[in-house]
Amino acid sequence: MTTPLFQPIGVVRTPFTDVVGMPIQPAYAEDARGVVEVVPAYQAGLRDLAGFERIWLIYVLHAANDAKLVVTPFRDTQPRGIFATRAPCRPNPIGLSCVRLLAVHATHLEIAEVDMLDNTPVLDIKPYVPVYDAFPGVRAGWFDAQAADRRRADARFT
Ligand SMILES: C[S@@+](CC[C@H](N)C(=O)[O-])C[C@H]1O[C@@H](n2cnc3c(N)ncnc32)[C@H](O)[C@@H]1O
Repeated sequence: MTTPLFQPIGVVRTPFTDVVGMPIQPAYAEDARGVVEVVPAYQAGLRDLAGFERIWLIYVLHAANDAKLVVTPFRDTQPRGIFATRAPCRPNPIGLSCVRLLAVHATHLEIAEVDMLDNTPVLDIKPYVPVYDAFPGVRAGWFDAQAADRRRADARFT
């Protein structure tokens, strides 16, 4: 199996320079705003994005600790398998956030509800399409037990 070597298409600028106290997901990031700075070579790829209210950002969790296969996630008190969590210290430290798209400019996007550190490298942008991406009411494993209502990060993964 060959794996492509991915190159960032840009970076996200956010208000967060330290993980401690920052939101753990866009759902808890309320008015935290950011900017996706896209490498000019990819400008044409932003065409038609303005009609979407939300976009997926796929990015490198570049400041994460070495991978762990079992972690105690922010919202739980029990150890869980890494692939049953959204914790950053993953074998491939890829982050996925559905953020609000406020405005599209030539080579940058204004966004809100950001949960990533400043200068996080972005690998891809995709439109959020409810008919593909929304499954209201489905089971969500240990999340459904609401073990800990934590909405802000601490230093456990960095
Ligand atoms: C729980 S992860 C969730 C990220 C994404 N929404 C996901 O589900 O893949 C978000 C936390 O990762 C940490 N984080 C954010 N950006 C990071 C980065 N670039 N490198 C390492 N850790 C980061 C912060 O503690 C933040 O609160």
